[in-house]
Amino acid sequence: MTARSEAPPPGSPRRARLVALAAATVALLLVIALFVVPRRRGPREIRVLTDRTESHLAPLFAEFERATGLAVRVVYLDKGLLARLESRPTEADLVITKDADLLELARGKGLLQPVASEAIRAAVPERFREPSGAYFSDAYRARAIFYSRERVKPEELSTYEALAEPRWRGRVCMRSGYHDYNLSLFGQMLAAYGPARTEAFLAGLKANLARTPGGDDRGQARAIYEKKCDVALANSYYMGIMLSSADQRAWGEATAVFFPDQLQGGSFVLRSGLALTTARENVAPATRLLEYLVEPATQDRLAALTFAYPVAGKAELSEINQRLGAGQPGVVRGVFVVHDVPLAETAKNREAIVRMLDAIQFDQPR
Ligand SMILES: [Fe+2]
Repeated sequence: MTARSEAPPPGSPRRARLVALAAATVALLLVIALFVVPRRRGPREIRVLTDRTESHLAPLFAEFERATGLAVRVVYLDKGLLARLESRPTEADLVITKDADLLELARGKGLLQPVASEAIRAAVPERFREPSGAYFSDAYRARAIFYSRERVKPEELSTYEALAEPRWRGRVCMRSGYHDYNLSLFGQMLAAYGPARTEAFLAGLKANLARTPGGDDRGQARAIYEKKCDVALANSYYMGIMLSSADQRAWGEATAVFFPDQLQGGSFVLRSGLALTTARENVAPATRLLEYLVEPATQDRLAALTFAYPVAGKAELSEINQRLGAGQPGVVRGVFVVHDVPLAETAKNREAIVRMLDAIQFDQPR
């Protein structure tokens, strides 16, 4: 007999059973292949969670992808970065934020793992690295005073605290006192000056407001342009952004940047921050991306895109930034004296600042 003659004839019950068995086996193998055997993927994507501006970061990520062949997947958030990290701690491999204070809070909640990289230690000055390696900054910007070129002489300006003096009554504009930028500034003042001076400053500042705190930083420059006020607190990079934008140039041209406290310890700065989450699978490529972001060429690109001050750039500042604070004692071609306050100190001051703001109803409609 041949083997062929042993096969059950088509249509027989035994043949049907064999076909069914074969189909079940194939299905089972598929299930095993899909769900049980660990899937071997190609190089994994590096997953980034960020509250920074997409148009600033996307070109840098694209360049990194081209150079390394690694893929970067980014979730861009407007706000709520810390809450998102708390609810989905390993959703991303790394976090990039415009507000490194948030990383100090994340560190306290055990949401970060240390960055182990000789390249980053070598590139980033110590004062921009958290001592245990939990996070570091790639750039900073002054929380500065913007003033009317028409109605204020720079000689009239000096310190943050001077903005609380009676001569500025009804002349100050600013966004909400509770915005992260202001919480960080006020938290640094609390660390540097202590509670009595900080409370007095906040009360005087509130008394001098021209209108209810609100809007964003550029909105305050616009208000100066519209003669609603004469001075405002805003971040230094907004000058570059306004002067580079057709519809905001007039706001930038109507105002100038003053770096406060240059003769009294330096201006307070806001630091952007980068860190690894506790996700374990992708540490090496994620660290590679962090290293890339502090390479001199990337830093110079970042500075050109954002008008922030890079921590490790090689090139000179952009022309616009070189003119910031021109003529101000202590400022040389846009480079200003920074009052360094460790983030570990400012982050823990946030609640105290919120209580001070609440006590004087800082944002109350005027
Ligand atoms: Fe901003």
